[in-house]
Amino acid sequence: MNDISLNRCFASPLEPSVSSILDCSGANSQRIRNWMANRYNSAIYYCEEERESLAHLIPLLLCGEQSAQLVFNNEIQRLCASDEEASSAILSLKEVEAEELVHDLALQQVQSELPIVEQTINIQRQAKRFYLQLGRVNSYCEHFVRIAILDTCVTQIMHEFEHSKLGKGHPFAFLCGLIKKDEAKHVYVAKHHAQYLGADRTMFIAEHEMVLPKLYTLLSSQSAHFEALGIELTQLFNKLEDKWA
Ligand SMILES: [Fe+2]
Ligand SMILES: [Fe+2]
Repeated sequence: MNDISLNRCFASPLEPSVSSILDCSGANSQRIRNWMANRYNSAIYYCEEERESLAHLIPLLLCGEQSAQLVFNNEIQRLCASDEEASSAILSLKEVEAEELVHDLALQQVQSELPIVEQTINIQRQAKRFYLQLGRVNSYCEHFVRIAILDTCVTQIMHEFEHSKLGKGHPFAFLCGLIKKDEAKHVYVAKHHAQYLGADRTMFIAEHEMVLPKLYTLLSSQSAHFEALGIELTQLFNKLEDKWA
């Protein structure tokens, strides 16, 4: 366990849709909770190099999970306060918020067994800046277009961790496989919500061209640590290139 506990990148929502991990009842959330109960984050599963690399990479992932909880929560609150008949959208958004909470807690559990490296605060700061920048939008619609695009990237990133040098049977690779399944669903929810708010295909293409280089810049600051796990960022981004074309 590390002695210093890191601050959150973003605060938890003031009125969260789920107040405890026990309220996250989806089948995949249940699998992640089982993963956590088995203490697969334990240091015995990681060699020194993996611990070092993950210590640099997990803050990037955690910041996204925490930012997402706020984004989905804000939208739920907005829709609840409006006259719009949006009960099914609210239900889907609540599910996403709950899943992001589970991801957040599972990754925090992994992080709790990793060293706090010198750069940690700096990495967290850069990630926070990226997510804040992404949140500077002219409309709710634009924001959800960006979230859909970002979650496509997160799905791919989780896929790369799942198939990384850690090996398929590795507990962290397994966790990333579970998170990947949720993220693919989040793409669907965010995309449909953006469309409900008025997004069209040209918006997805334009925002994709804006989000990807920014994300690449953020992740490439840690490219050596991705590479240590066998993840090549240029290849990863090549795979993402035509996703919305
Ligand atoms: Fe997530
Ligand atoms: Fe997500």
